[in-house]
Amino acid sequence: MTGTPGPRPVRPRRSCLAVPGSNPRFLAKARSLPADEVFLDLEDAVAPLAKEEARENVVRCLNEGGWGGRTRVVRVNDWTTQWTYRDVVTVVEGAGQHLDCLLLPKVRDAGQVVALDLLLTQIEKAMGLEVGRIGIEAQIEDARGLVGIDAIAAASPRLEALVFGPADFMASIAMKTLVVGEQPPGYGADAYHYILMKILMAARAHGLQAIDGPYLRIHDEDGFRAVAGRSAALGFDGKWVLHPAQIAAANEVYAPAQEDYDHAELILDAYAHHTSAAGGARGAAMLGTEMIDEASRKMALVIAGKGRAAGL
Ligand code: GLV
Ligand code: MG
Repeated sequence: MTGTPGPRPVRPRRSCLAVPGSNPRFLAKARSLPADEVFLDLEDAVAPLAKEEARENVVRCLNEGGWGGRTRVVRVNDWTTQWTYRDVVTVVEGAGQHLDCLLLPKVRDAGQVVALDLLLTQIEKAMGLEVGRIGIEAQIEDARGLVGIDAIAAASPRLEALVFGPADFMASIAMKTLVVGEQPPGYGADAYHYILMKILMAARAHGLQAIDGPYLRIHDEDGFRAVAGRSAALGFDGKWVLHPAQIAAANEVYAPAQEDYDHAELILDAYAHHTSAAGGARGAAMLGTEMIDEASRKMALVIAGKGRAAGL
């Protein structure tokens, strides 16, 4: 991309709703659901023979509007297929001004992100769109992508988020499991920990959001909450949701609990009061029986920021 714009917007992504581009009824319904992000899928939820029609559905649906404050994303096909360039050209030429981000799946190296960035820039220039406004989410779905994640995360100023793709990932590393998002039987610990942490570290090192992938047992809300709770505890910003029933759970799990939010605001107040009383000098202070300092303030700021964004 030429002519780097200012910092990218930080969009809420607690719940990222997957909607197949081939299903006009689901596409229409997504506009009324309380997901932070809706991504219209042209990849694995759409059969090869339905790709072309799905592109047209997606363009129409973006142009119809009515998305409110939801982040509007389209998942294109990955660069090893024959579909990617036409996905990008059709969607961005047809509805570029109504699109916030493209989601690139199965990212294996930085060059794939750069290629999408360059193509986007050409289309934006040709169509008279603001260059660089459309962001990129990169989906990490195999060992190659994970090993090269630092370079991927640094590949383009358009990047906004790194997204875990557990189904493809588990298949690619030959993990013995058939339930996407659940632990493989026989291991006895969290088999996802390393992968999630590596994605989170690369995301934070480059100022990006980290998004957890889907949980396919769509009617098991307790299971969803347990899996989401683990990545939320690590610091992930949100998770894919495949069914309207998972949206409220994701919005809740990736926002702080009210009690933690209130406590964070209390720490910020107490610390601000302490530093102004001490003439601006920093240092430790007491909040009840708890000692707080500059690092506590930063931790509180994270929780307070997530809580304010969630409207707590
Ligand atoms: C999503 O694309 C996944 O592979 O889990
Ligand atoms: Mg996948």
